[in-house]
Amino acid sequence: MQDFTVSRRALMMGAAATTAWLASPWRAMAQTVSQASAVLPDRLERLLQMMTTEEKAGQLTLMAAAWSGGAATTLNPAGNGASFSEQLEQARQGRLTGVFNGNGAEMARQMQIAVMRDSRLKIPLIFAADVIHGMRTVFPVPLGEAASFEPELARRTARAAAIEASAAGIDWTFAPMVDIARDARWGRGVEGSGEDVLLGCDMAAARVKGFQGADLTDQRHVLACAKHFAAYGAAEGGLDYNTVDISERSLRDVYFPPFEAALDAGALSVMASFNELSGVPATANSWLLDDVLHKEWQFNGFVVSDYTGDEELIAHGFASDAREATKLAFMAGCDMSMQSGYYIAHLPSLVAAGEVPMARLDEAVRRVLMIKHKLGLFDDPFRRIDPKREASRIRTPAMLELAREAGRRSIVMLKNDGDLLPLPRTGKKIALIGPFASGQHDLVGPWNVYGTDADAVDLATGVRAAVKDESAVTVTLGSDIDAPLPGGIEAAVAAAKAADVVILAIGESTNMSGEAQSRTSITVPESQQALAEAVAATGTPIIILLKNGRALALQGAVRDAPAILVSWFLGSESGHASADILFGAESPSARLPVSFPYATGQAPYYYAHKSTGRPNPDGPLTEYKAHYRKYPNSALYPFGHGLTYGDIDYVDLHIESDRLPWDGALNLRATISNRGARAAEEVVQLYIHDAAASITQPVRELKAYRKIALKPGESRDVLFQLTRSDLLFIGQDMQRTVEPGLFRIWIAPSAEADGLSGSFMLMPQ
Ligand code: NOJ
Repeated sequence: MQDFTVSRRALMMGAAATTAWLASPWRAMAQTVSQASAVLPDRLERLLQMMTTEEKAGQLTLMAAAWSGGAATTLNPAGNGASFSEQLEQARQGRLTGVFNGNGAEMARQMQIAVMRDSRLKIPLIFAADVIHGMRTVFPVPLGEAASFEPELARRTARAAAIEASAAGIDWTFAPMVDIARDARWGRGVEGSGEDVLLGCDMAAARVKGFQGADLTDQRHVLACAKHFAAYGAAEGGLDYNTVDISERSLRDVYFPPFEAALDAGALSVMASFNELSGVPATANSWLLDDVLHKEWQFNGFVVSDYTGDEELIAHGFASDAREATKLAFMAGCDMSMQSGYYIAHLPSLVAAGEVPMARLDEAVRRVLMIKHKLGLFDDPFRRIDPKREASRIRTPAMLELAREAGRRSIVMLKNDGDLLPLPRTGKKIALIGPFASGQHDLVGPWNVYGTDADAVDLATGVRAAVKDESAVTVTLGSDIDAPLPGGIEAAVAAAKAADVVILAIGESTNMSGEAQSRTSITVPESQQALAEAVAATGTPIIILLKNGRALALQGAVRDAPAILVSWFLGSESGHASADILFGAESPSARLPVSFPYATGQAPYYYAHKSTGRPNPDGPLTEYKAHYRKYPNSALYPFGHGLTYGDIDYVDLHIESDRLPWDGALNLRATISNRGARAAEEVVQLYIHDAAASITQPVRELKAYRKIALKPGESRDVLFQLTRSDLLFIGQDMQRTVEPGLFRIWIAPSAEADGLSGSFMLMPQ
């Protein structure tokens, strides 16, 4: 047997251990293997042959970290309750592949030392965490960041998050979340990129690249995990965890592409979703996890269950007991079990009984060992573990500056009547009103294991820093988030009357979106709506600054205010980023990644819906057409909408030809002008509609977008090119196809704006 002895000194010191490790047997082994190979390197293959069945099951068992009650156990349903010393012992016995949502480099160091010193085979642990939108530096929630329509920004924030996370010993993030979310009642839309397939794909790929970089062995990079596979966002009624029953075509047209984009960008792990899919829970769905993922898409990484996803097969009514749940999930292709402990408990006996072939066990372990190898862990198990480095890489000025930039580039301006915005820095008395006007709460947003509101800048601080005279700003809460505040409205009305302008900071609290936070009504909570009505009645102009984790159906005085900004949850630099937009340091440049419907009852509302046989013609609502009583089948503010401080005009469209040859390309050119007096950035969007196809197609689909900067008075030509491959859809045979015929196109400022329009024919082969 090979000698896996590691010097004691190496094991006791963080960075020193790394140095000593460089001389270790694993290091020599790692040098002999090819990074690109999908086949396990010889020496790891030999290691696999030396493993007992229990040790193999251990490599497929991931648990919430027990160190000081690791965060996961408070963020998720109760874990297995092991103490840290018990967890260390499990690690020594080879019964753990790693832990998640632990607490920093010191914890990781102690655990890795236990394994490298005391376990039989010394297979390094992997440390995972939910680093969803930043770590200690918190960036805007992913939905907000998607509003930037800047995948490059998402890449940069993911990279920054990876730099902080990896300094804290983390090898693997449970991100990006790439679920398309079209029902605003569902709370987890906040973790993704919204309703659109193209934007979802671009953001998924960018985030994977940011997390993983070009070289996974780099100690500043972490393994990405595309989640939740699949169609988790299509839960019936927008109820989290609920049943999903959709066609294979919708899966392939809408829900799968962001996963494919994430895998194409190099993501090497995938998380199975909690939901069932047409009767078969995703965790035990061999069509999803094996046929599609591995066979069709040639995925080489591993699949991890979601938190107790295998155990939940029993509650789903799919497995009768823990043993059967283990067998069903594992045989379907779920390689690693998170948090239930089922695999370590049941796989050995299932293999002994011949119910799970050893070949399947080896396949899953190979996948896991391969990823640990790609992360460089066999080369240096301590490469991301260094408490000194951890302290120096957290919340650096550059990280915070990036958080501020990402924050302001995520804010969407829905409305700005009479150019109320931007506000001057002097000469106006400002009443800052609302439950989010001040205080370090509800800033970093849902899904933060490590970042805290206590470290974040609130709105009042940001506004005061932006004005010349702080005494021009008053702050009044007016209402609690979900309940009236005694005397609150009276105080708010008095403050509004005494001011020249009101900034009304209202909306949703952190815990109104995120996991398990579905809402039956996607409106501003009643007490805040009452506050808005009372403040509006004073006649002082109001700027609504919304805080939200989803699309909202705006009503009454909120909807009718002259100016509305959507600010999501902006993270560490919330207050400064908001002030940058409020006072015009930068023009708003973000666009809605989700449509804001008129009313909750429209949910799920998304712009890329089908026409139906009875679309309402443009104009007033018509009897016996597809619309709700009193509401059109459209959005108050559709996907893609957002204004700037410029005055943007879509002037002229030139379509090179009215025919796109089957193997050719079609050039489109639009002239966009800024007739305003301020610089602005416009997101120019190209939509198509396939007028008649063997499968009905959405009324519009985004095919490309460009964010362009325009100085005052500047005009620019924006070029797009379409080829046949942009017109693909999933045909009757479930394959991607395209059919000749008429296509309409729009180059427009939103999915429902007229913009500039035209058409062309795709010519037959
Ligand atoms: C459950 C969530 O669905 C998933 O997104 C997360 O990564 C795990 N818990 C681990 O915390």
